[in-house]
Amino acid sequence: MSKLLVTGGAGFIGANFIRYWLSKYSQDSIVNLDKLTYAGHPENLLSLEKSSRYSFIKGDITNKADVDSAIKNVDIVVHFAAESHVDRSIEDPMTFIKTNVLGTGVLLDACLRQGRKRFHHVSTDEVYGELGPRDLPFNEKSPLNPRSPYAASKAGSDLIVKTYYTAYGLPVTITNCANNYGQYQDSEKLIPRFITKLLSNNKVPLMSEGENIRSWLAVVDHCRAIDIVLKKGKIGETYCVGGEEKTNLEITKSILKILEKDDLWIDFVWNRAVNDFRYALDDSKIRKLGWKPKHDFEHWLKDTVEWYKNNKWWWKKSSLKQSFIDFKRTFLHNN
Ligand SMILES: NC(=O)c1ccc[n+]([C@@H]2O[C@H](COP(=O)([O-])OP(=O)(O)OC[C@H]3O[C@@H](n4cnc5c(N)ncnc54)[C@H](O)[C@@H]3O)[C@@H](O)[C@H]2O)c1
Repeated sequence: MSKLLVTGGAGFIGANFIRYWLSKYSQDSIVNLDKLTYAGHPENLLSLEKSSRYSFIKGDITNKADVDSAIKNVDIVVHFAAESHVDRSIEDPMTFIKTNVLGTGVLLDACLRQGRKRFHHVSTDEVYGELGPRDLPFNEKSPLNPRSPYAASKAGSDLIVKTYYTAYGLPVTITNCANNYGQYQDSEKLIPRFITKLLSNNKVPLMSEGENIRSWLAVVDHCRAIDIVLKKGKIGETYCVGGEEKTNLEITKSILKILEKDDLWIDFVWNRAVNDFRYALDDSKIRKLGWKPKHDFEHWLKDTVEWYKNNKWWWKKSSLKQSFIDFKRTFLHNN
């Protein structure tokens, strides 16, 4: 019977993780510490509000008092809270540095002071930088080479986590994961953005020719990966969690096909200042722990589209806000 502190549990992956964990481990309980930024949606966990095994604290991971009170009596910390959008990081890097670097430090420090808590840090493949078309996938030994303020702030947090193991023996693990997709993802990210645009009868803004390649993993498979690392991972170690490689154009075409629309719904737009060409991960290390993805891309993408179709109430407001941001970015780019 464990008590977990999940940070950023009102966000996309955090909310999926809380649902996953509470339904799998019926004796465990979870405290969710979330600042509720634009990316935090408390309604993601509405159905858990009455559960005695779930509680929510509105607070900031960069605030020592908030963290100290949330972490009391907790056995394990699973750290998702972050500023997570690359475009925003290029526009406002300081917020990313504060939340992702300082916030992680505040959490680690509290873990150390309050009884050497088990700490799992959720990170991204973007810390390794970009690959060329024929390069071998990154693995845990690849040098960190971040190219956006988002990726740099996550790389910084990864390094700090490691030093709390080497310098203080704090029991930490890290997962660096590929792009996730699934239900409850904010419409600023590629897949939900394109789905919600098309469901609102708007064209999808695809950067450049859509040639950039990302690896994609169903969010539930990411939750399973964190679970296995918490149960079987070696303390102090990092695990890469990979996905299926697809170009952004392939993703777009798959979504169009599911929604029975043609290529005329694609609007090819300007490219942002930093748009890494390709991400891919060699995840053989975590596979040795017994993990492998259960959900194939085409099938799970269909389920995701279906969820957005059936849950317009969830995304309507944020997708309107996103359309305004898209308009502003295009205006600034063209002028
Ligand atoms: N989305 C992906 O594809 C992906 C892939 C690999 C790794 N990750 C990592 O997984 C984690 C979660 O990603 P996500 O997509 O769910 O992000 P998200 O943006 O959907 O959610 C982030 C959550 O953190 C909260 N938050 C932000 N600043 C906070 C602060 N100062 N204090 C407390 N809470 C704060 C937000 O309110 C939100 O609920 C991040 O650390 C991200 O770097 C994401």
